[in-house]
Amino acid sequence: MTNETESVEASVEAESAVSTESWRQALASRRTELAEPESVPATQAAPLDYDASRRNFIRASFWTGLGVTVMGGLGLFVDFIYPRNVKGFGGPVPAGNAADYEVGGLPVHNRAGQFWIANLDPTDSADNGTDGAAGLLALWRKCPHLGCTVPWEPSAVVEVSSESGWYKCPCHGSTYTRSGIRVFGPAPRSMDSMAIEIDDAGNVTVQTGSVTSGGPDNPERAVQHPLLPS
Ligand code: FES
Repeated sequence: MTNETESVEASVEAESAVSTESWRQALASRRTELAEPESVPATQAAPLDYDASRRNFIRASFWTGLGVTVMGGLGLFVDFIYPRNVKGFGGPVPAGNAADYEVGGLPVHNRAGQFWIANLDPTDSADNGTDGAAGLLALWRKCPHLGCTVPWEPSAVVEVSSESGWYKCPCHGSTYTRSGIRVFGPAPRSMDSMAIEIDDAGNVTVQTGSVTSGGPDNPERAVQHPLLPS
């Protein structure tokens, strides 16, 4: 009986030893399984790649947005300043027919084109005259001093002349002859002139975008045409 008990105890111990060894091996294999993923760099590289691509995406979005905004603004600016089909002041303005302008007649105001136009009299020797020039002359109504609108004053007189009828600025009194020559006042120069075109039928067009600074040669800028009364 004693021998049987010892044999059973030995058997139990042996089984216990085998079982313990099995547990050790199982635990060791589990440790290996857990350690392996930690040692693989790929498990850490994945989030790094993700961050980098997100940064690139944000950077690309920023520059793309900035580029689109700048190009859009540039396009709007070019569209704004590009002259196209300009009508009225700043472009060609019709001014009747050459035959309508009596030689030496009163200057005619063109409101749309902001100019005065007159057929100069080559025989005019008055102080407020045209200095012997002939042809159609268009004068910008804007005073060269500070920009007031200059009217033709048929009854205006000045101290330096007995003639009546002058371009006279209401703001500071600058006074000009019929050909726009400055004779009095603070204006720095004579009235500016505008280019005139007359076609074969005598139709007059004033290019209000083509302005020449006023000067003593104003009368020489008058345009002649066979259909102009003389
Ligand atoms: S604005 Fe015409 S004289 Fe000053």
